Amino acid sequence: MAILLNNNGYGNEAWRKELSTQAPEYIVREFGEQIDPDEIDYALVWNHPKEDLLNYPNLKAVFSLGAGAEHFTGETELPDVPIVLLSDPAVAKDMAAYALYWILMFHRKFRVYEEQQTDAIWYRHSIVPTSDFKVGILGLGKIGTEIATRISDFGYSVSGWDRKRCELPGIENFEGEQSIGSFLGANDVIINCLPLTNDTCGFMNSDRFNQMRKGARFLNLSRGAIIVEEDLLGSIDNGHIAGATLDAFTCEPLAPDHRFWHHPNINVTPHMSGATFASSALRLIVENIHRIEKGEPAFPLFDRTLGY
Ligand code: GLV
Repeated sequence: MAILLNNNGYGNEAWRKELSTQAPEYIVREFGEQIDPDEIDYALVWNHPKEDLLNYPNLKAVFSLGAGAEHFTGETELPDVPIVLLSDPAVAKDMAAYALYWILMFHRKFRVYEEQQTDAIWYRHSIVPTSDFKVGILGLGKIGTEIATRISDFGYSVSGWDRKRCELPGIENFEGEQSIGSFLGANDVIINCLPLTNDTCGFMNSDRFNQMRKGARFLNLSRGAIIVEEDLLGSIDNGHIAGATLDAFTCEPLAPDHRFWHHPNINVTPHMSGATFASSALRLIVENIHRIEKGEPAFPLFDRTLGY
């Protein structure tokens, strides 16, 4: 019994160590080493060459080692086994903390106070009450829902947009294409949590940035390709939106000469808003392996039609 592991070199030692304690009955085979295809029961992968997954005749399921699912989309055929996504509450919670940090930074003007401190300036700026500061979550999947709920718990006025109706207590709901303009125009900060699919690639283009409230800010926590980078720069440079915080980019790592790095109104972080930790992720994966071994369904499953 063996597990194929390919996390693209990220923390392989930690994954191996956790596997040896949480699933000691399985031998771990790292992608790239000599492997007998017949012995592989489960594949735990991230950005793995999809065609390789067809090589294992006894494969029972494929597990994603990250929250995104775009590495399972495209024309290439996938094996006829469940593709199980990773929906780790610990990751969603970390992402909510990341979002809260930036919301506080914008709303409470911490950058301004940092600059004032340099010159020993004691001056208190006026701000809108927390309940009047409006935060919009674009995409109410597991991560978007967690962020919306936690930010709302701090007293911010939170709304969410999704292509389908999502009822969340205390969160104003905007649903479908016809409401995207009013959603974008209603908020001081828009936080992108959409999955990357054929429908969302290039979703935030200049038309949509122009629909945002003047002086608002944009946070991208999901995938770079959902925004048209030039259109974002255009909207900031023409003074329509105030700035952006970006944790995901069309090409990662972000090229050293990319304009985002040195733009005064853009904050760049290196895709760290919600790192996957082997310890908590494996608990969920091993629970699913036990379910499959008992003939029960694993979850959450990748939807091959929706692409996430
Ligand atoms: C990271 O972006 C992930 O999808 O887990």
